[in-house]
Amino acid sequence: MKFYIGSDHAGFDVKAPVIEMLKARGYEVIDLGPENKERVDYPDYAKKVSQAVAREKDSYGILICGTGIGMSIAANKIDGIRAAHCHDHYTAQMARAHNDANILCFGERVSGLGVIESMIDAFCSTPFEGGRHTGRVEKIMALQKSL
Ligand code: RB5
Repeated sequence: MKFYIGSDHAGFDVKAPVIEMLKARGYEVIDLGPENKERVDYPDYAKKVSQAVAREKDSYGILICGTGIGMSIAANKIDGIRAAHCHDHYTAQMARAHNDANILCFGERVSGLGVIESMIDAFCSTPFEGGRHTGRVEKIMALQKSL
């Protein structure tokens, strides 16, 4: 799996450990910033990561802010993105199995490193189930093209 990752200042401290977790599992990781903890606006990094994921087939993204909320709202504005705001192993697993999520969002101020690692494991090891979920995901993607 190939991952693009980004954060804002409120998610910066866990970005490096998350990159290490992904690399330790053999995944390719491209860090799209920021490079330090100076205050930044999360939509800028949500846009960078989301556009990279949308443009590259079979790539995935991780976005980290204080809560995970702003990143997920912003990422889902980009066509082709299904960003899931997750809190634990189960929500990360279901995000892949039922929603075919291509970006995992979470909050540094909400989730500790143990839970984050569990979410990453679930997200990376769970395939999209397809079947009855396929049409639902197609309906989600069609919504992005409607008013
Ligand atoms: C930054 O203070 C904070 O608002 C941001 O990281 C995020 O939690 C927004 O959803």
